Amino acid sequence: MRVLGIETTCDETAAAIVELNADGGGTILSNEVLSQIAQHAAFGGVVPEIAARAHVEAIDGLIDVALAKAGLELADLDGIAAAAGPGLIGGVLVGLTTAKALALVTRKPLMAVNHLEAHALTARLTDNVPFPYLLLLMSGGHTQLLAVRGVGDYVRLGTTVDDAIGEAFDKTAKMLGLGYPGGPSVEREAWRGDATRFALPRPMTGRPNPDFSLSGLKTAVRLEAERIKPLTPTDVADLCASFQAAVVDVIIDRTRAGLRAFRQVADRPTALVAAGGVASNGAIRRALTRFAGETGVKLVIPAPELCTDNGAMVAWAGIERLGLGLTDDLLVAARPRWPLDTQAEPSLNGKA
Ligand code: KG4
Ligand code: ZN
Repeated sequence: MRVLGIETTCDETAAAIVELNADGGGTILSNEVLSQIAQHAAFGGVVPEIAARAHVEAIDGLIDVALAKAGLELADLDGIAAAAGPGLIGGVLVGLTTAKALALVTRKPLMAVNHLEAHALTARLTDNVPFPYLLLLMSGGHTQLLAVRGVGDYVRLGTTVDDAIGEAFDKTAKMLGLGYPGGPSVEREAWRGDATRFALPRPMTGRPNPDFSLSGLKTAVRLEAERIKPLTPTDVADLCASFQAAVVDVIIDRTRAGLRAFRQVADRPTALVAAGGVASNGAIRRALTRFAGETGVKLVIPAPELCTDNGAMVAWAGIERLGLGLTDDLLVAARPRWPLDTQAEPSLNGKA
């Protein structure tokens, strides 16, 4: 089974082709990602209208390249998948409409995939991880701990009450005059900084519910920066290192609470899986590796390029859904908001 996956929910235009292996995992035949960072950089964040237009201009060519690199034609595919949300609606419409058009002309099944589900299932593409597992999803828009019990069967154990972790990285970077997106630039600065110089808060740590709060930490960074300004390059590096160290502590404490909460909704997790753009952070990856060693849980973190937004994860989620007969008709709608756990109360920030 081979599926084309299209991703256009934020600021990456992506198209990929993934094949299902006999052992149940997947092989990525091509994985094209075109970042729009340069177009948004001057604005310090993603501008929805610019994103939508850039997706329109890039998507057709990108799909051609993905097909060519896989050595396939549209007729060789078994289905077409696109992320149908959550995300910026203009961009989502571009990808979903493209997928609908391709499905219509080729008469192949269409899979309207939840972008968060695509992040959630990537570890099955790369490592064939069996259900159930604990998922730590950390992106620019979402920060959640979820029990993944099956395709379409997610229990949200915890979420952020304010900012997402990626958002906290992005806002901290902006505050300190660093480039967009913030995560990679904060990580780069943190490398040469002193993580012990500023005593920053670790919000929510110690609480039994595996929820997150990041806005107080971000504010603490701002207050420290205002106290010592003007900032030298060393100050910036030390603030980044101290911020990142606080985030790492928060993530480990909250994941520990998540493991405990998991036992109430499912059997022992087969693995702890980290996903989303923030999971490409080296310090966070190392801390999770240490934590997994201590607790004896198997850790699976997809390669950094499969943690940030990509088409392969959408193609894989499409393969999983197609295998279960979960296809969509051409009337399926794009969804700006689309929680994975539909039973969970809306989070306080209104995003999940
Ligand atoms: O999953 P993703 O690519 O897009 C969304 O669905 O949001 O995640 C993007 C987020 C951004 O907030 C970005 O700053 C963050 O992931 N990010 C990182 C790193 N690389 C990307 N955060 C921390 N460290 C990184 N190395
Ligand atoms: Zn994402």
